[in-house]
Amino acid sequence: MNAEDLFDLAPVVPVVVLDDADAAVPLARALVAGGLPAIEVTLRTPAAIEAITRIAAEVPDAVVGAGTVVRPDDAERAAAAGARFLVSPGCTERLQVAMAATGLPFLPGAATASEAIALLEAGVTAMKFFPAEPAGGIPYLKALNGPLPQVRFCPTGGVKPGNAADYLALPNVGCVGGTWLTPADAVGSGDWDTIRKLAEEAAALR
Ligand code: 3PG
Repeated sequence: MNAEDLFDLAPVVPVVVLDDADAAVPLARALVAGGLPAIEVTLRTPAAIEAITRIAAEVPDAVVGAGTVVRPDDAERAAAAGARFLVSPGCTERLQVAMAATGLPFLPGAATASEAIALLEAGVTAMKFFPAEPAGGIPYLKALNGPLPQVRFCPTGGVKPGNAADYLALPNVGCVGGTWLTPADAVGSGDWDTIRKLAEEAAALR
C-alpha cells in the first residue's frame, strides 16, 4: 500500500482520540462494520500505542494508523505497535525522513504552497491539509489545485458531515478526516451502535 492507496480505502478517515485502550477493539469493529476501515489513532493520549497494538492484532479488517506523529520517534513507536500508516499535522525534514524510514505510507501535513512544495521536493504527493477550515477550507484548496495539481490532500480540522461532501468533490481531495465519527460521550459509554451509524453515513459520502 502506498499513500495514494489510503485515499481509496474510504472517503472518510476517523480521527480517534482514545483515553482507554479497552475501547479500541469494539470501537474499531464498529467503524469497520459501518464501512470505514482506515482508522487514525492519534498519539495524543497515553493509551494510543496500546490501542494501535490491540486493533492491529484483533481487528483484521481494520487498517489502523497513527496520527499526531510529531516527533521522529513517534513514527518508530507507531510502526513497532503495528500501525499501517502514519499521519502528521505538519512536517519537518527530520520527521519526513523518520516517517519514510518506517516503510509505511504516510501523510505529512501541509497548509501552504511552500510546505506542499517542500514535500514535493522529497517526492511526497499525498498530504494531510491541516487545519482545513481555519486555514481557508474549500476555496483555499481550489486555489492550491491551480499551481499544484499533482498534490492530493486529506483535509482535516473542522471537516464535518455538513461540508465533507463538498471537500470530497474537489479534484485534489483524496479523502477527508475528522473526529465527528467518534464523539467522546459515545466512546465513553460504549455506544458502538451510534458510532457504526455515523460511520455508515460517512461511508456513503462518496
Ligand atoms: C486532526 O488531528 O485531524 C484534528 O484534530 C481533527 O479535527 P476535528 O476535530 O475538527 O475533526
